[in-house]
Amino acid sequence: MLSVRDLEITFSSQSTTVHAVKGISYSLDKGKTLGIVGESGSGKTVSGLALMGLLPPTALVEGEILFNEENILKANKKRLQHLRGSEIALIFQNPLAALNPVFSIANQMVETICLHHNVSKKEAREQAIALLDRVKITDPQRRIDDYPHQFSLGMCQRIMIAMTLSMKPALLIADEPTASLDVTTQKEILELMDELKDEYKMSMIFISHDLGVVLERCDEVVVMYLGNIVEQGKPKDIFLNPQDDYTKKLIDAIPKIQS
Ligand SMILES: Nc1ncnc2c1ncn2[C@@H]1O[C@H](COP(=O)(O)OP(=O)(O)O)[C@@H](O)[C@H]1O
Ligand SMILES: [Mg+2]
Repeated sequence: MLSVRDLEITFSSQSTTVHAVKGISYSLDKGKTLGIVGESGSGKTVSGLALMGLLPPTALVEGEILFNEENILKANKKRLQHLRGSEIALIFQNPLAALNPVFSIANQMVETICLHHNVSKKEAREQAIALLDRVKITDPQRRIDDYPHQFSLGMCQRIMIAMTLSMKPALLIADEPTASLDVTTQKEILELMDELKDEYKMSMIFISHDLGVVLERCDEVVVMYLGNIVEQGKPKDIFLNPQDDYTKKLIDAIPKIQS
C-alpha cells in the first residue's frame, strides 16, 4: 500500500544546505508495521512528515512516495488535505502540541469526527465517548468535557490516539509517541497501540530511537543513520545477525532485562 522510492529531502537556506534524507527506499504492506529507528537527527521525522505533505516550503523533496499507487509528492493541496484527514494520520511525540488548550476534549473530538464523517453532533459525541472508553480513559461521559490541562501527559496521548482513530486512517505514522512519557506510561501506551493496530487493521510506521521497542512490535525494520538507511529487514534477522556497525551498537544499547 505504501512504497517509498529514492526519497531525498534537502533543506536549503541562503547560507546552508542540509541533506536530511539521502535517497531512502522502503515499502509497507496493508496491516503491517514498519519500524524506523535511528539516533536524533538521522532523518526519521522529516521522512515521516514527507508522507503527509507536511514539510515546510524550504524543503526540496525528490523521489516517489506511492500510497495505493498514487504519488503523494505530486498531489495538490486539496488532495493532500483529504489524504491527511481520512487516509494517513500522524501521532506526535508531544500530545500537548496537538491538542488545543482552550477547547474541551468534547469540542475537539466532535469537530474532528463531524469533519470526517457525516454524523450529527450528538452522534459524534457518543462516538467520542466510546473512543475515549476504548483508549481507557475512565469515566469518559464526564471527562469528555474537561480541558487538556486537566489530564496527565499519558492521558493526553491516549486522547490523541482516540482522536486519530476517529478518522479511521489506513496508515498511522507514530513519531516517537511515547518519548515524552514516563516508563510505566510508555509501556501502557505501546500496549494500547498494539491492540488498536490489530483491531483497526491499520498499517503503521513506528518511529523510535529505541531499537528494542521497534524490534518487539514491527514486521519490518529500517535503521537510519545520517539520512541513509544502513540496514533493513525482519526484526529477528536484524537482532540475530546485524550487518551494519551502527545497528550492532544499537543492539548493544538495548537494556538486557526488559520488564
Ligand atoms: N525545517 C527544517 N529546516 C532545516 N533543517 C531541518 C528542518 N527539519 C529538520 N531539519 C534537519 O533535518 C535533519 C533530520 O531531522 P529529523 O528528521 O528531525 O531527525 P530525527 O527525527 O531522526 O531526529 C536534521 O539535521 C535536522 O536538523
Ligand atoms: Mg524526530
